Amino acid sequence: MLSSVSRTTRSAPLTTSLVQSRNIYRFPLSSDINITKSGKTKITTGLGGRHSKTGYQVSVFGATGFLGKILTSKLAKHGTITIVPFRNGRSKRHLKINGDYGVVNFHEFDIRNLKSIEESVAHSDVVVNLLGSHLNTKNFSMADANIESANRIAKISKDYGVDKFIHVSSYNADPNSPSEFFATKGISEQIVKEHYPDATIVRPAPMYGRNSRFLNDMLTLKVLGGNIIYRQEVYPTHVEQVAQALEKIIYDDSTIGKTYELYGNERYSKLELREMLKYMIHLNQYGFFPAASGYDMPVPEFISKIWCLLNEKLNPSLESFNYDTYRRSTLHQKIDPTALTYKDLGMVPDELADWLYKYVKPHIISSSQAKNRTVYGREEILKLRDYVNSPKNRLDLFGYGTKN
Ligand SMILES: NC(=O)c1ccc[n+]([C@@H]2O[C@H](COP(=O)([O-])OP(=O)(O)OC[C@H]3O[C@@H](n4cnc5c(N)ncnc54)[C@H](OP(=O)(O)O)[C@@H]3O)[C@@H](O)[C@H]2O)c1
Repeated sequence: MLSSVSRTTRSAPLTTSLVQSRNIYRFPLSSDINITKSGKTKITTGLGGRHSKTGYQVSVFGATGFLGKILTSKLAKHGTITIVPFRNGRSKRHLKINGDYGVVNFHEFDIRNLKSIEESVAHSDVVVNLLGSHLNTKNFSMADANIESANRIAKISKDYGVDKFIHVSSYNADPNSPSEFFATKGISEQIVKEHYPDATIVRPAPMYGRNSRFLNDMLTLKVLGGNIIYRQEVYPTHVEQVAQALEKIIYDDSTIGKTYELYGNERYSKLELREMLKYMIHLNQYGFFPAASGYDMPVPEFISKIWCLLNEKLNPSLESFNYDTYRRSTLHQKIDPTALTYKDLGMVPDELADWLYKYVKPHIISSSQAKNRTVYGREEILKLRDYVNSPKNRLDLFGYGTKN
């Protein structure tokens, strides 16, 4: 914390301990007392675990999402009072058990109802905004979910004197991006900075983890135009690590006003990942009829474009490929050299090869398991990556690979 008095340095002269603690992250429970940016005193209890209390109160917008549920569990585990604004009763139920009694608190809200936002942030020390959407739905456009929600939450948090605002944006966030998602995320950063010039901005790369959209999108059985929509190249990052980084940012005041880009060390094209996943889940390897065992149908770019446009027009809320998916496929992940990274938080990014099998295993097509029981450890994954990138049999037009 900005000015925390640790048990070990309490006897040192005050000025020395303040200077030492200013840039050094320490978990709040390692001090008896922590002082927030605006001078509030937080008294801690316990050394960690469910019966501890950090003394902090944090509101997490988007806590019911993929990243939010992991962050909530990390915060609640050590007794940080966590406020979970929610809109769907069923999506928040499982969060209650993350902490001791009274630690995880729910508040029904709607981004159109300002009072509900006020009540969600009123007594918090930190607000984390993870709320966002990658598609336009019947009720909320991407601009509503990414820009206007951030605008309202940041403005109200400021009015209510919330000390610290953390906004989760996205890799490639850029107000001038041709992609609606990246553009709305870029504008959201600017809007947040208008209310909170010292807001911390976090831009995660595509996140993998248990049941992640990033991997699930590539695990579908049948794909039309995968050669186009999977051509994007990205540096995937582990969702657990993004949540861990957010936890550090919440408690560490030296992160105020900074921008972090959180990404993995290795660059993958989604196309090569899709090829690797096909081998790992045994897709197309045993079935004779493609329709039964899944297929990849390569198409020219204009057909893929029309297909994505049709998907969007016919069912805008469909969690599948829409026109912005097509637009994003043309934009490789760009790294901002001025942004801070995991390294600045004292973290080393996880490698996808160490985790891929764990997250893909539940998707292995069960009927094929009797024939192929390969366990893909790190070595096998790296070999598979080399294999899918090596020139293959030209007759293998549909990318079925070699049958075992
Ligand atoms: N996942 C990635 O790979 C990735 C990559 C880059 C950036 N990001 C950004 O990182 C943040 C967290 O990602 P995530 O994967 O955890 O997202 P997610 O699983 O899609 O969760 C989004 C959260 O926002 C809430 N939300 C969306 N639209 C809303 C609306 N109109 N009104 C109220 N609540 C709304 C959802 O509530 P419900 O549960 O009620 O739907 C959910 O809690 C998002 O801002 C996302 O854009 C994610």
